[in-house]
This record gives sequence, structure tokens and C-alpha cells, in this order.
Amino acid sequence: MKIAIIGTGYVGLVSGVCLSDFGHEVVCVDKDPAKIDALTHGKVPIYEPGLEDLLARNVEAGRLSFSGDFASAVSSADAVFIAVGTPTRRGDGHADLTFVYEAAEEIGRAITGYTVVVTKSTVPVGTNAEVERRIKAVNPDADFDVASNPEFLREGAAIDDFMRPDRVVVGVSSERAADVLADVYRPLYLRDFPIVVTDLESAEMIKYAANAFLATKITFINEIAALCERVGADVKQVSRGMGLDNRIGNKFLHAGPGYGGSCFPKDTSALARIGQEAGMPMRITEAVMDVNDRVKRRMIDKVIDLCGGQLSDQRIVVYGVTFKPNTDDMRDAPSLTILPALVGQGAEVRVVDPEGRREGETLLPGVTWFDDPYEAATGATAAILLTEWNEFRALDLARLSDRMETPRMADLRNIYDPDAVKAAGFAEYVSVGRA
Ligand code: UDX
Repeated sequence: MKIAIIGTGYVGLVSGVCLSDFGHEVVCVDKDPAKIDALTHGKVPIYEPGLEDLLARNVEAGRLSFSGDFASAVSSADAVFIAVGTPTRRGDGHADLTFVYEAAEEIGRAITGYTVVVTKSTVPVGTNAEVERRIKAVNPDADFDVASNPEFLREGAAIDDFMRPDRVVVGVSSERAADVLADVYRPLYLRDFPIVVTDLESAEMIKYAANAFLATKITFINEIAALCERVGADVKQVSRGMGLDNRIGNKFLHAGPGYGGSCFPKDTSALARIGQEAGMPMRITEAVMDVNDRVKRRMIDKVIDLCGGQLSDQRIVVYGVTFKPNTDDMRDAPSLTILPALVGQGAEVRVVDPEGRREGETLLPGVTWFDDPYEAATGATAAILLTEWNEFRALDLARLSDRMETPRMADLRNIYDPDAVKAAGFAEYVSVGRA
């Protein structure tokens, strides 16, 4: 099949590369010529393990190309995927659909034969119906259907999530559109990956409900962790004991400094707005957003307590600032809440992160960047483990404590065993949900 992908951001690029690897002929379209030029020369603007190689292989095979020519890509496509950004609108928390509707109208003007216009961007319930209305408005003769095909890609695991999904969700309002999407995902269908074919509104809701539920699950264990600290329980044991119940499951039940990323904050905010607008407030989701912010801020207090109540003469080394490992993404990362507070209270903050420096340098003023975790720890009075990169999972703790002026650690991802840390010479060790 011939496929056009509108938008070469995180979702568009991963989807385009993977769909071309299925054997389809894919053109990824973007308005930014510099981006198109870089991609044509195999330069991938995001850090996503395996993406660069997979992109190069499919460009080499002639199945994947990049273009700024919107009309030509759309006019020859059987399916056009809208994968543009839907950022949180300033001020009201709504998903900003400007780019989605601009793309829809431009697609409407370029459509020639029967085309399925697929919205992959995360959009509020009812958006696909509005996309259909806007295409008809600009081109009443267009022979097309719309479809909703939300993505469930995790940054750092996106290719695996695309190639081996728990399920593919397809929202359609016609058999013809269902047939086209079945062809698009045939390689997955043939390998028995579940494909949920439903209506447009349910497909749109599945995405928001899934992300809000995952954010809720994380926030629940983070709240339990705070209580564990008060009553002397160990949240890792609690999580294990809960997760063995297969109705609960052990995934997304790891206490930490709060969730971040480009999706959970945006999607919980959008779902809360959808509920408000529909006169059915999403009280649980609203509470999750509030508690998550408190969790991030509580980490600041944890570090201040660890440092004896003031930070003015502290040298603090922070291991990891991206919102999670195996990504360079800093969007809504807990570090963006925690580190400015430490700097603001007079601490000298040193940062080590394998991929975070590129974006972090502008987002985290006032910190010093180091490549080597031990050099960064020289003379430090506290070490914070904030993002659980593999590089920080097996630090030589004795070597670290030797380098530090006052060996103290705040392990905000519960990576280390408290006794092992103390045995390595650390005077104090605090973590999340463990007394
Ligand atoms: C998420 C969803 O998992 C994915 O299905 C959706 O398509 C996009 O949003 P992503 O945001 O890339 O993916 O990362 P994810 O791995 O879900 O982690 C989100 C946040 O939750 C991170 O800040 C992570 O540190 C945090 N998290 C995750 C926890 O704090 N505890 C956990 O147990 C799991």
C-alpha cells in the first residue's frame, strides 16, 4: 500500500519507519525543510533505540522517503496518517487541535482517489468526526473515510511497541475503511496480534482512558509509598505483594518521583477537560494530576531533609534528568520541578545524564554538566538518583562514597539496597516508600 504520514515528530517518524518495514511504500511529510533534509540523509532528530538503523534500512530498500510536498504525497496515498502534535493548550488544559485540523483541510484539498484519513495523534472524543466535516467542507467531492488509530508507544521502547503491540485499536465508520486498515496492519494480523475494530468515539476514548489509568496506577503506588514511609512499611514489598494478583499486575507499580513525559501529563489534562466540558468531571483523573505534582514537590523536601535542612553550602550530584531512561525527552520530567528548587535554595547542582544534556542545558539553567558519574561526585555532599538509566544501576558505591565529602544518597527510584549502600560507606540513605 501507499501511505503518507503527516508529521515527523516522535509518533509520525516511528510509525512511518515501522509501516515501511511492514513492506508498505511510505512518504513522511513535514513542513520543516531542515527536518526533511536531515531525515533524507538518515539523521534522526530524536533519540529512540534502533530507529536510525531501521530508517536507514527502509530508505535503502526504497520503501521509505521524506518530502515537503504535501499534495503529491497525499494524492497518491491509499491511507494518510495525521501524526501531528496535540500539545496542551496554554491556560485551559485542552488538547490544541490546530495542527490536526490544518492537516485535515490540506489533506482534503489534495485527495484524489478513495483515501482513508487516519488520525494517529491523541485527540479528544469527537475529533475524527470534526476531521470528516472539515474535509467535506474543503472538498465536497472527496471520496474518503476517516479512521482513528491511536498509538500506545512508550518512548525508549517505541519500535518494539509498534512491532509487537498488545493490541491495535482501529476506529472506523465504514467497511471500506476497515478493509484498508486491515491491509495496513496485515503483518500484525497474520501474527495474531489482537486488532480491536470499533467506532470512532470508542477508539478515541480507549487512548485517553488507557493513559489516564496508567497514570492513576503509578500515582496510586506513589501515594501508598508516602504512607509506607510514615508507618514503616516497604513499598517495594507492598508493590510485589499487590502485583502478584493478576487482576492488578506488577507493571507500572514502581514508586518514584512522579510521572512525566509527553503523554501522561497532556492526556490526563485533556481527559479532565473533556469531562468538565461534558458535565461529567473526571474526579479521579483530576486528583491524579494534583497528587502527581505533590509527589514531585515532596522529593524536594526529601533532599532538603537529607542535607540537614538547608542547601546553601551543599554540592549535590544528580544522576539522570530525562523523564525516564532510554530517551532524551525532558517534557514534564520531575527534574524540571526538583532541580530549580535545589539551585534556588543555593545548592551547587551537578548533573550526569547519558542523553539529557542536549535539551537539559536550556531547561535547567544554573547546573553543571558532567559525563563521568565519579568525577561529578568529587566533594559532593549528596547524591540523587533521579532517572534509572542503566549507567546508574550499578555504580561502584564504595568508589562513590570515597569521592564524596559527605556520602549521602537520595535514591528516588529505589534502585539500591539500603544495607549495601550503608556498607559502602554512605552515612545516610533515603529512598521512596521505604523507611
Ligand atoms: C506512555 C504510555 O506507556 C504509552 O503507552 C503511551 O503511548 C505514551 O505514554 P511514555 O510516556 O513514553 O509512554 O513512558 P512510560 O514508560 O509510560 O512512563 C511514563 C512515566 O511514568 C515516566 O515518567 C516513568 O518514570 C513513570 N513511571 C512508569 C513510574 O514512575 N513508575 C512506573 O512503574 C512506570
